[in-house]
Parts: sequence; structure tokens; C-alpha cells
Amino acid sequence: MLRTFIILVPLLFSIHSPACSAATDTISAGEALPKDEKLVSRNGRFALGFFHPDTDSKFFPRHTLKHWYLGIWFDKIPVLTPIWIANRENPIVGHHRVTKLTIASDGNLAIFNQATRSTVWSTHASITAKKTMVVLQDNGNLILRDASNSSNVLWQSFDYPTDVMLIGAKFGLDKVTGLNRVIVSKKSLADPAAGLYCLELDPTGANQYVLEFCNSSIVYWSTGEWNGQFFNSIPEMSGRTLFDFKFINNNQEKYFVFNLLEKDLITVCFLDISGQMKQLLWLENKQEWATIYTLPKDLCDIYATCGPFTVCNSNALQVCDCIKGFSVRSPKDWELEDRAGGCIRNTPLDCGTKNQSRTATTDKFYSLPGIGLPTEANIIEAARTADQCALACQNNCSCTAYSYGNRCSVWYDDLLNVRV
Ligand SMILES: *[C@@H]1O[C@H](CO)[C@@H](O)[C@H](O)[C@H]1NC(C)=O
Ligand SMILES: *[C@@H]1O[C@H](CO)[C@@H](O)[C@H](O)[C@H]1NC(C)=O
Ligand SMILES: *[C@@H]1O[C@H](CO)[C@@H](O)[C@H](O)[C@H]1NC(C)=O
Ligand SMILES: *[C@@H]1O[C@H](CO)[C@@H](O)[C@H](O)[C@H]1NC(C)=O
Repeated sequence: MLRTFIILVPLLFSIHSPACSAATDTISAGEALPKDEKLVSRNGRFALGFFHPDTDSKFFPRHTLKHWYLGIWFDKIPVLTPIWIANRENPIVGHHRVTKLTIASDGNLAIFNQATRSTVWSTHASITAKKTMVVLQDNGNLILRDASNSSNVLWQSFDYPTDVMLIGAKFGLDKVTGLNRVIVSKKSLADPAAGLYCLELDPTGANQYVLEFCNSSIVYWSTGEWNGQFFNSIPEMSGRTLFDFKFINNNQEKYFVFNLLEKDLITVCFLDISGQMKQLLWLENKQEWATIYTLPKDLCDIYATCGPFTVCNSNALQVCDCIKGFSVRSPKDWELEDRAGGCIRNTPLDCGTKNQSRTATTDKFYSLPGIGLPTEANIIEAARTADQCALACQNNCSCTAYSYGNRCSVWYDDLLNVRV
């Protein structure tokens, strides 16, 4: 087994805000977050401010305009690790000095782009209070509340998670309001917009969480049902070494929540770009993150994790590779762990491009021995021999592969989930 237990995770983000004097944890009506500053929770654990993905990488020419996001991160560690992002889909492009975080006239917390005079993001709560205020709480929850009644919370960041399962946050369904909290992976190391993978309560109603390819709701892994102590497919949870867990299902809500047993530990559980859940633990002595577990364990169990026309091999140093005759479609995206584009043919197919005639085509099949067959095969009953199966595939320019065992299976368009 070549699977490493501890993987270092490069997080390509950099903190923009310099440490500021007299940090505050609140914004009140009429106030704005001062430029270059951040809110810091009273216990000093979390900070809220603007950050941008690292643009020092070779893939970002120096003139590339920076993309700014409002996020919450651990204030005490030097590796910026956003655990929540407000405007993941709407970065502010250019200079952050044009942005203003303030309580708008309607009482909502909002980000304004002063250059374009537009609202980039808002909490969009229905406000019932005369005056509101914003507090970054000690647990990392950003709340918008009635300024004169601290129990009247109008909006909270815990209800709108990004790619991180937040400690102490209810993760699941509010049956009264219909709010369903879903974790969605990032697109790439440089782009925190919604990516390909989702973690949510099983939509069929079972008491478990499922990992799915968001676009098509294809489930590729599930936690197993809650048995009162832990989820059946994660027996490791029963040890309760780091966390205490609860799964609540009543008339009002259905959710999972976990809390740290050792309050000072810094840990983060997130849905990675690849579609894998990862739990990281901050190593104070080494000043770096260590991965303490991944789910599912085998990366190749994740639907389309390497993208189309790739081969997944979890025992190889490089898990994702192109099928022979194909090359990575976008090396820049691939490097940033966005493999959605997968690989493309080095030489385009003759079929469908130059000449539709099967007899004239120069296309040939290439045999891939020793692989697990991709999912979503189409069975052609009429083809009774390997040659007939090959012909059936050649007859249709959308057909990209065939396999003949007892029956003829063919695949159309993108070939996904090929594994060694
Ligand atoms: C404060 O807000 C809570 C929650 O909305 C409400 O139940 C309570 O009555 C409010 N208290 C006062 C004094 O208005
Ligand atoms: C997701 O679905 C939309 C709409 O069908 C499509 O435009 C988009 O390309 C899909 N994305 C991926 C990554 O498949
Ligand atoms: C396709 O190839 C055949 C055989 O070489 C030729 O007769 C035919 O004209 C070609 N058709 C087109 C559209 O190029
Ligand atoms: C090729 O196969 C696809 C998928 O079954 C089908 O939609 C398409 O009509 C076929 N094209 C031809 C020319 O037979």
C-alpha cells in the first residue's frame, strides 16, 4: 500500500491583512470594517477579513488582477485556511481598496464595490429589528443580530457553509424553514467557487450523509446510517478521541453536529476539490497541517475525480493520468487540482470531423488491458461477437470505447471512471 497517512496540503492562499491594533469582534450600524483590517473573535481564535488566492504561482502572470474574497480563518496560524467564504461566486476583481464591508441601510451586512457602485454580496435576511449589528463569535460563527436583543439572530454564517464542516455548526436540515445546509467543494486551489462535489443529508430520507457529484446527484459514497453512536461506515468515529458527535432528528430539524474535546486543537474537516473528505490537524511544533483521515479512503472511488479520458490508479505516485494517446486538456487547471477538463486526444478523431463514412475512417481502436470498466455502459444486444461490437461502436461517431465480454458494452462521449 502506497497510500500515505499524512499528506501535506498546500493551501494557495495568502493573508492580506497585516496584524492590526485594537481588533474588534463587532460591526455596528453606520460602521464599516476599516480598510486592511479584520474582525477578531474575542478569544482570538478566528478572524474575518478580505483575502486573495496566491498569485505568485507560475500560472498567474504578474499583471493578473487579484480576486478578493471575504472569509473567516484561524487567526493564530500562519497558513491562511479559510473555513468560510461569503462571496465564493462573486470575487472582487482588482484592488481590495474599492471594497467596503458594512451594514447596509436595510440592516443587512453587505460588501460593496465602490468602483462599480454595486453590491457584491449581502446577507439578504428579512430584517425585523430597528438596528442590527454583526459579531464574530468565539466559535467562528458570524452572526447578524438585533442590536438591542442578542437572542434575535437574523442571519448566521453557520447556516451557509462553503467547503468546510464547521465545528459546532448544525449540519443538515431545518424542517421548519426548509433550510438545507450543503457542503460544496471548491473549483480549484485558486478559485473557491462551487466545484463538482457535494456533501449533504441523504435526499431519500435515510439518516446518513452522502457524497455526490453535484451536477447529476450521482452518489459515490455514504456515511452509512446513524446507529445512535456513529455512522455505520465510519466505525473510527466510535473512539471519540478528538470529537464528540450528535445526530438529532426531531419535528423541527435533522442535523449532525460535532464538537472538539480538546478546545485548543486547531482542526478542519472539508470536502476537497477531488471529492474526498479530509480532516486536517494543525501541528503546532511543525507549523503545518497534517491529514488525519480521508473519506472515502480510495481516491479512485470518487466519481470522475480525474476527469474524462483518464486512468485512476491509487497505487501510483500520480493517481490521475491520461489514457494513452491523450494529454491533459488544461495543464494550468490540472496543476491547481481542477481536473474537470480531464484529458483530450492528441489527434482528433477522423469520425465526425472530416468524413462521416465508416469505411473511409482512419480511426482505430486501442486496447487497454487490466482496467476496471467505466460506469454507465450501454449494452448493444444485437452485437454477438467482439467484431460486431467494434463495428457497432465505429458506426456512431459519439462512441468512444467498447468492451466485449458476454455482452457488447459501448460508451458514448466522455469516458469517465476508468481505473486500474
Ligand atoms: C428577543 O428575541 C427573541 C428571539 O427572537 C425573542 O423570543 C424575545 O422575545 C426578544 N426579547 C425581547 C425583550 O424583545
Ligand atoms: C453542470 O450542468 C450544467 C447544466 O447542465 C452544465 O452547463 C455544466 O457544464 C455542468 N458542469 C459540469 C462540470 O459537468
Ligand atoms: C468521405 O470519404 C469517401 C471515401 O473516401 C468519399 O467518397 C466521400 O466523398 C467523402 N465525403 C466527404 C463529405 O468528404
Ligand atoms: C449515436 O449514439 C447516441 C447515443 O446513443 C445517439 O444519441 C445518437 O443518435 C447516435 N448517432 C447516430 C448517428 O446513430
